[in-house]
Amino acid sequence: MDIKSIGVVGSGQMGRGIAQVAAFSGFEVVMYDLNQESLDFGMDFIKNQLVRGVKKEKWDQNTADETFTRIQPSSKIESMAKCDLIIEAATENKEIKFKIFEDLDAIAKPEAILATNTSSISITEIASKTKRADKVAGMHFMNPVPVMKLVEGISGLETSEETFAAVQAASEKMGKVFVKAKDMPGFAVNRILMPMINEAVYTLHEGIASVEDIDAAMKLGTNQPMGPLTLADFIGLDTCLAIMEVLHEGLADTKYRPCPLLRQYVQAGRLGKKVGRGFYKYE
Ligand code: CAA
Repeated sequence: MDIKSIGVVGSGQMGRGIAQVAAFSGFEVVMYDLNQESLDFGMDFIKNQLVRGVKKEKWDQNTADETFTRIQPSSKIESMAKCDLIIEAATENKEIKFKIFEDLDAIAKPEAILATNTSSISITEIASKTKRADKVAGMHFMNPVPVMKLVEGISGLETSEETFAAVQAASEKMGKVFVKAKDMPGFAVNRILMPMINEAVYTLHEGIASVEDIDAAMKLGTNQPMGPLTLADFIGLDTCLAIMEVLHEGLADTKYRPCPLLRQYVQAGRLGKKVGRGFYKYE
């Protein structure tokens, strides 16, 4: 299938990044969010990112203007009806995603592909909520989407080869490198990344090193661009905990048990950068 238009469900951190990159790559984009305030914020954020790019001479004003006009915001899910590929990037919650996929299945044109940016929920289970499981796949983008080169592609049990080839082609047109992973808890990236972050929290919990020293050790000692606790704040501690729980439950192995301190921070509402407090404080 030749994909020309992309629908993005959700205008949060991931959705707005995907919408920006898709529009920049020449796709017609509809960004849908039922929360008008979040939608307006998402559009403003994209506009600012495009303006910053012009100032930094990454692209010219014309490119920025054309990219922005290719994104149509909408607060109605029916706006997804005309899209060839719909990428869902809503909250990482099973029930929310299941409902969105039921709704999208009813609204989207029969040949449309439905993809999910889930970081840990089973693609096979999400696909089972639709009557087109062969046209459902995982497209796991990394944050910040405009900067990170990877899309992790996940094929569910029923995903057809045509569908997988189409999402790979769309990802590559967006300038991303596509890596294939099996539909198992955490796929490849989070199977490796989250236990590392969780272990960094244990290292803090057991008093082995301070927040700053854990980050400095991993940044300077292993050449990571940010330390694991900074990265946890950046991803969101609630998201990190949710993914650890999926690994723990789905793989039934105690080595994936979430650190009690991570759980306690989430209970306290210290969810990371987005709320101004996690392992660090943010202005
Ligand atoms: N949106 C768009 N661009 C951004 C950005 C954002 N939110 N944040 C930074 N950038 C851009 C900057 O504009 C800058 O661009 P130029 O070089 O062209 O000027 C570039 O990224 C570098 O930014 P900075 O100089 O401000 O800062 P930095 O060098 O520390 O890089 C970073 C910032 C790219 C975020 C880097 O620290 C990094 O790579 N961190 C690790 C990120 C990571 O691991 N992400 C994956 C998280 S896991 C995930 O997403 C999946 C999941 O399921 C949980």
